[in-house]
Amino acid sequence: MRLLILGGTRFLGRHLVEAALARGHDVTIFTRGRTPVPWLGRVTALTGDRDPRIAPGLAALDGAGFDAAVDCSGYVPRVVEASARLLASRVARYLFVSSLSVYADVSRPGQDERTPVAVLADPATEDIVPNYGALKAACETAVGRIFGARATQVRPGLIVGPHDATDRFGYWVARFVHPELLGDREPRAVVPAPPERPLQFIDARDLATFILDLAEGDVPGTFNACSPRGQWTIGDLVDTLCALTPSPPSPAWVDEATLVAESVAPWVGLPLWLPASEPDSAGFMAMDCSRAQAAGLRTRALRETVADTAAWLASRDNAPAWKQVLGAAAERRILGRAGAA
Ligand SMILES: NC(=O)c1ccc[n+]([C@@H]2O[C@H](COP(=O)([O-])OP(=O)(O)OC[C@H]3O[C@@H](n4cnc5c(N)ncnc54)[C@H](OP(=O)(O)O)[C@@H]3O)[C@@H](O)[C@H]2O)c1
Repeated sequence: MRLLILGGTRFLGRHLVEAALARGHDVTIFTRGRTPVPWLGRVTALTGDRDPRIAPGLAALDGAGFDAAVDCSGYVPRVVEASARLLASRVARYLFVSSLSVYADVSRPGQDERTPVAVLADPATEDIVPNYGALKAACETAVGRIFGARATQVRPGLIVGPHDATDRFGYWVARFVHPELLGDREPRAVVPAPPERPLQFIDARDLATFILDLAEGDVPGTFNACSPRGQWTIGDLVDTLCALTPSPPSPAWVDEATLVAESVAPWVGLPLWLPASEPDSAGFMAMDCSRAQAAGLRTRALRETVADTAAWLASRDNAPAWKQVLGAAAERRILGRAGAA
């Protein structure tokens, strides 16, 4: 298959390229050339900018034809529309990597692809951070308008695994398996109670496999792409982390009231923690992904994701990391307050 990846060198894209090369596909990537290309000589690396207003724009894509394009760097509808229009007559299938954040209301668990998506208050906005989900939904619309049944929309939840530089899932792996990466830490680790709290995420390598399967099968449609609802809890994650290391910190299960009183930032200070006091997000870690599972999405063992992430964390430069997560002093204070130190 002649495969074009818009992006490809940071995280998900990187795993897509690895998997596509392993399957013997003819891979072209399109990036600005800022992030190093690990496969020089094995992929065709085109340079440009997805934004046609920024020279040289999409010129490098002129003329080439592909069986499928995977867009894993699209955030702004105007920009996504530009590549979709340019490629409409030269790409058989356009797979847009969207997000579970597209949904307008995730207050209830078990929502599927029919759930209404968020709509931009200002359709012209290109301010990504506060409008991420609604912008992704508008990008999907642009791709659908141009490619019709030749469009595939993939909506991942939290993507995890090696090369994830976001300090989210990786925080938990570091806290239990490589606490030395986080400074001088206590032998007890603050974990948000209760252990039954549901978690949902997808290993980037499983997502890459699924996307390639959809591309090879020329499969249309929209897919929530995450682990099956109810598969994992934070208790499962902590058990897996503890089983992987000879003398792990012991988990100190801290109730939400204490975390809120200590001003711990949900999702950022303690990654993957969405407090019950924020009912609007109550369903975010319990989305219905059965359509993707029926189409072939498989999730590897949690132990493998954790072990591979731990190995990657130990091999990377951690100096720029861990700036927003719960610091050692704040964790000590919480342990004291919770009577768990
Ligand atoms: N991480 C998550 O938990 C999560 C969850 C749900 C959905 N998603 C979605 O998953 C997708 C994957 O993101 P990723 O960062 O892992 O993808 P990636 O393809 O590994 O990395 C982004 C790529 O885009 C290139 N790029 C960035 N801006 C560009 C521009 N203006 N023009 C051309 N190339 C550009 C970068 O290279 P250069 O720097 O060299 O340009 C890089 O190769 C995103 O669409 C994201 O919204 C992520």
